[in-house]
Amino acid sequence: VATLAQPQTAAARVYPGLAPRLLRPELEGRESLAAYRAAGGCGGGAEGDALLAEVEAAGLRGRGGAAFPAARKWRAVAAGPAPRVLLVNAHEGEPTSAKDRQLLRRRPHLVIDGARRAARAVGASELVFWVGDAEAAGSVRAALAELEAGLEVELRIVAAAGGYVAGEESAAVRGVDGERPVPHAKPPRPFESGVGGRPTLVQNPETLANVPFVAANGGDAYREEGTATSPGTFLLTASGACGAPGVAEVPFGVSLAEAFGAVAGGLAAPDGAFLMGGYFGGILGPRARGLALDYDALAAAGSGLGCGAIEALPAAECPVAATARVCGFFAAESSRQCGACMNGTAAMGEALARLRDGQSGEDDVERLGRWAQDLPGRGACALLDGAARLVGSLLREFPEEVAAHRAGECQSTSK
Ligand SMILES: Cc1cc2nc3c(=O)[nH]c(=O)nc-3n(C[C@H](O)[C@H](O)[C@H](O)COP(=O)(O)O)c2cc1C
Ligand code: SF4
Repeated sequence: VATLAQPQTAAARVYPGLAPRLLRPELEGRESLAAYRAAGGCGGGAEGDALLAEVEAAGLRGRGGAAFPAARKWRAVAAGPAPRVLLVNAHEGEPTSAKDRQLLRRRPHLVIDGARRAARAVGASELVFWVGDAEAAGSVRAALAELEAGLEVELRIVAAAGGYVAGEESAAVRGVDGERPVPHAKPPRPFESGVGGRPTLVQNPETLANVPFVAANGGDAYREEGTATSPGTFLLTASGACGAPGVAEVPFGVSLAEAFGAVAGGLAAPDGAFLMGGYFGGILGPRARGLALDYDALAAAGSGLGCGAIEALPAAECPVAATARVCGFFAAESSRQCGACMNGTAAMGEALARLRDGQSGEDDVERLGRWAQDLPGRGACALLDGAARLVGSLLREFPEEVAAHRAGECQSTSK
């Protein structure tokens, strides 16, 4: 599975003309508390119910993958019994995503500020960071040491263990509680019973990094960037066949080609395919270039923005081979708790490998089509849905390539 060459050292970039809200590319290394305060951070703005109302007006959506409205989750957690917990989900096990570690390494105070405000708004007395990247964890630790004594919440940093699924919200809760970090069936969701059985707000670091802007400027100002259904800006992790892979802050609504052209050094393969959303948005052909990077626009196109990671495939990588490679990843990362996922991801991966190698018949393609239809919703977490969506997108977007493989005629060097 392709990973970013050096996500940790890639420069942070900002879409031309955008006043950045999340990144400060001019800063070298970690932003100190003094620098954060000098830029207006930590002070004043809406709090409590007033902040919740502004977050709702802003239309802030979760950046961890599901794009769930933040205010709805805040309300659900606030309605539960005390004590409550805020879990910052910085696992980031997605191989093509580097934005959370970039954000935490560079701007830990922005995330901590947003997290403290969110914790106060939902009445959480404990703040837990579940962090996959050791340098990001160190950055958060250093930032906390800079804050004066007397934080209003209890704070813990837990080094995230486990594979890809350890970032799923119920798995993260289990990991924080010292259990094996694998998802469980819902209900209960973390807002009902999370860390230590308490109502828990699970939120991605990038989601929380938007909160100080909303608190200071209000929901209407927040909507001055982005689209009606995807307001604000987001962190794009661009990887693969582009001039300059890395993390960039981009307003929602620009097209994929505009974004890659402006902040990722352009696209190397004119007719190349794209792995969307960090795999959960499936695979799209060249038409993806013209699509707006907006949760709903991409969903309407049968894809998704997920956690904001997009991998541009090189012209030499056949979409069938790419799909087989990623489905193999899903199969390897399944926690093997649900029969449909354990068997389904393995069977899809094997059928795709046969197709890739020109050794499949009509049956395999028919079965893949059936699995893509039947498997979504049958696992305890969204991993199985992601794998099925990927397979469905290959069959829908690349019928000619699939037919060529079935006939053993793919000319691609990477079949
Ligand atoms: C297999 C899998 C892995 C996930 N990994 C992450 C992750 O690393 N970080 C994250 O924030 N969300 C991850 N999620 C999504 C979380 O379950 C959850 O929706 C998210 O943390 C909520 O925060 P948000 O609303 O701010 O996005 C994952 C989901 C699945 C199904
Ligand atoms: S759907 Fe798959 S990854 Fe998710 S809990 Fe079930 S077996 Fe594990």
